[in-house]
Amino acid sequence: MSKKRKTPEELRSHRWYGVNDLRSFGHRSRTAQMGYSREEYAGKPVIAILNTWSEINPCHTHFKQRVEEVKRGIWQAGGFPIELPAQTLSEPFQKPTTMLYRNFLAMEAEETIRSYPADGVVLMGGCDKTTPALLMGAISMDLPTIFLPAGPMLNGNWNGVTLGSGSDTWKYWADLRAGKITEEDWKGVEGGIARSPGHCMTMGTASTMTSAAEALGFTLPGFASIPAPDSRHAQMSAKTGMRIVEMVWEDLKPSDIITRKSVDNAVTTCLALSGSTNAIVHMIALARRAGVDLTLAQYDEIARRTPVLANIRPTGKYLMEDFYYAGGLRAMLKELGELIDGTQMTVNGKTLGENIADAQIYSEEVIYRRAKPLMPDTGLAVLRGNLAPDGAVIKPGAAEKRLHVHTGKAVVFKDYNDMAARIDSEELDCDENSVIVLQHAGPVGAPGMPEWGQLPIPQKILQKGVRDMLRISDARMSGTSYGACVLHVAPESFIGGPLALVQDGDLIELNVPERRLNVLISDEEMARRKAAWVAPEPRFRRGYGAMYQMHVMQANNGCEFDFMQRDGVGGSCASAGGEPEIH
Ligand code: FES
Repeated sequence: MSKKRKTPEELRSHRWYGVNDLRSFGHRSRTAQMGYSREEYAGKPVIAILNTWSEINPCHTHFKQRVEEVKRGIWQAGGFPIELPAQTLSEPFQKPTTMLYRNFLAMEAEETIRSYPADGVVLMGGCDKTTPALLMGAISMDLPTIFLPAGPMLNGNWNGVTLGSGSDTWKYWADLRAGKITEEDWKGVEGGIARSPGHCMTMGTASTMTSAAEALGFTLPGFASIPAPDSRHAQMSAKTGMRIVEMVWEDLKPSDIITRKSVDNAVTTCLALSGSTNAIVHMIALARRAGVDLTLAQYDEIARRTPVLANIRPTGKYLMEDFYYAGGLRAMLKELGELIDGTQMTVNGKTLGENIADAQIYSEEVIYRRAKPLMPDTGLAVLRGNLAPDGAVIKPGAAEKRLHVHTGKAVVFKDYNDMAARIDSEELDCDENSVIVLQHAGPVGAPGMPEWGQLPIPQKILQKGVRDMLRISDARMSGTSYGACVLHVAPESFIGGPLALVQDGDLIELNVPERRLNVLISDEEMARRKAAWVAPEPRFRRGYGAMYQMHVMQANNGCEFDFMQRDGVGGSCASAGGEPEIH
């Protein structure tokens, strides 16, 4: 790619700082108020650093230090850094779910970049929704942008046992409920499962989405796999600061990086990692910001050809720290061969193929060879049928195989509270072949489509030693979860989707190889129930929630706001006809 290098007068910030008028006087005098003399910023690229650090986000605790390293790099390369706080979206603490606020941060990122004198942008994220949200906003603004991934935390440890975020929480919680471990053991797990800064180190949404960001071309090569506390993470942060300054002069923008092929690369990456099902929703939303109309059907098509190579929990055995030592994402991408389009541009000005050319696998236990993959193609399946006309998803690799083709009687819970109240009741009419159904857990109904999709197994069935059952909801599921959980059922039950019409005792049929999900009732019966269905009261009456419920689209459309779309596709990327700037 050869573009003319920008001159200082062509910088966007020149309009704020370089013009000799009254408004620029104001900007310069107020910059002087902050202690900067003209020599420190005049004619230099202004770099906005969107930092999602906060005192309640454990995954980003090191961002206070990392942002200083980014600034160091920016200064050294001749730029002028401005740190701007952005919503922290702390996965463990924010209720009802960070997903309710993903679009809020995406809008905040876009409008922050738009309204301040940014020439280039560093996005600092990692905890689940922060990565897609920041990228969505930056893609829409289309200024030179680089992503700094928080990096995974170190492996968890308790009494010599390696612990993985989320996955081992569910595992030991089930053991505690089944009486297999003591309260003291449970406390030990609590103390050892998260023992350093960084995002979840299993293949949850965070590891999946930061890896997708790297495969898309938005990070320096190899960055997404480096554990947060590693000194190489700090070094990469400084290099990220250096590189963004050069990207501004080169005018290397998201629209040069995100294409149909780079989106396919990112989807392939998510699948080869056996990544979180949440990535589907996020990839659809961010691809459409760039005018790339990613659909569930295309996702399924890529899933059918993509082997799972990463042996990482919850699908596999190891954790992100092991993945890094085994060669990391670059090594896995290289092993994927022609399934990855190496011609795609990345933020360092080189192609993805150039960036991975010298990568090597150092442990075939952690990163499998393509000739002998961990799983041939079972990372993800998109289902359809009368229960999910607009689609649903399942991660077959994380489910017991006997449940891939299964028919069972529905046990229906009308919402989360109903499920919490009755799931462990001795009276509950169910056995291990039953199908647990949760309603009102979708984007509008829950609200925010929380990660409730790994529905609990009734205690009386757990006590029989059963560890998996078919479970269906319109919720999402944490990427660190596992089990035969059908998720993202669309349209959702709260707005009258067929899931709302399922009743106790209905037979539900799942067939993963044939991608089918049906409730075995007649069309006439379905129509009769639909006619009798009464819409529930809206969740919100005012504020952001009211706007959210009015405009959020269903999971198959990435849970994006309808008003962020243009021309029937999602794109509001400047190259796809974005909003004009008002200065
Ligand atoms: Fe932040 Fe899991 S809690 S990534």
